[in-house]
Amino acid sequence: MTQVFTPTDADIQTAAQVLRSGGLIAFPTETVYGLGANAMDETAVQAIYTAKGRPSNNPLIVHVADAAQIAEFAMMDDVAQKLANAFWPGPMTLVLPLIVDGPLAPTVTAGLNTVAVRIPNHPIAAQLLKHANTPIAAPSANPSGQISPTQADHVLSGLHGRIDGVIQGDGCNVGLESTIVGFSPAPTLLRAGGIAVEALEQVLGTPIAHHQDSKTLTAPGQMLSHYAPDAPVRLNVVTPQAGEVYLGFGPMQCDENLSPSGDLNEAAENLFAALHRLNATGRPIAVAPIPSTGVGLAINDRLTRAAAPRD
Ligand code: TXA
Ligand code: MG
Repeated sequence: MTQVFTPTDADIQTAAQVLRSGGLIAFPTETVYGLGANAMDETAVQAIYTAKGRPSNNPLIVHVADAAQIAEFAMMDDVAQKLANAFWPGPMTLVLPLIVDGPLAPTVTAGLNTVAVRIPNHPIAAQLLKHANTPIAAPSANPSGQISPTQADHVLSGLHGRIDGVIQGDGCNVGLESTIVGFSPAPTLLRAGGIAVEALEQVLGTPIAHHQDSKTLTAPGQMLSHYAPDAPVRLNVVTPQAGEVYLGFGPMQCDENLSPSGDLNEAAENLFAALHRLNATGRPIAVAPIPSTGVGLAINDRLTRAAAPRD
């Protein structure tokens, strides 16, 4: 049974207790819903992989309430600290050197010597992390490879009966996952996301390298097919074909519009919910062209993976 919690302090405390005793709880963040487990409990972390059907070589992001907790398991240099000061709490994940023999469950990092860390900026996530009082490993709360969840209903339709609970709540306002930055040793974009590359570069004062090769282990989660609806997806479509449902952007005629005014932040916020609805029609999906500036880079990254061949 999957318990549905309301976003009251009492329910969030109960959910935190479930996490502390080894359970799996889905919760809203400002990006997408996460599926949390105590990052120091190996059995609980393994249960995340089982619930999602996630390949075991794809490590998880550790979520903490504040930066002081990070020092127990990872190391931050001055450049990482600069990004943290600018963007945390918020939709940015840093891949940091792992402290050897630290307290994290080994499966969290899938055997790598680095760990991905994020401080989310959503009141429910923040409260849950505070009450749990332990680092929480949390991938997006969807079956592996499928469309990410931005509503409690999305979580339930994918994982009902496979997890202990979900906290209801609005506010996945960014709408797509965090931007992931690694250091190898120069700052490198591992996944486009809610913080625009332009904003990172402004803080760093230099252009950031982009991770090129999606097949190596430095970004194991960057499989080409991901975020995939059941039906085929075509991109950069100006004239949809008969039978297709049309996902638009900017002023145009279409079945769903990510942002009639052409606002990329609004489009990102609406992206996954629109894909869930269009997927439910069972028809092939055609998507209008979307600019790749700002958060548009992340929108096009997700759409490219949604459109990729499935195997
Ligand atoms: O916004 C987000 O980041 C959401 C919310 C819940 O915080 N989480 C999320 O998790 O998107 P997930 O598991 O769907 O994506 C995590 C990504 C994967 O591509 C994974 O491979 C990568 O982070 N990752 C995790 N640890 C890593 C590491 N040590 N080195 C490189 N990539 C890592
Ligand atoms: Mg995911």
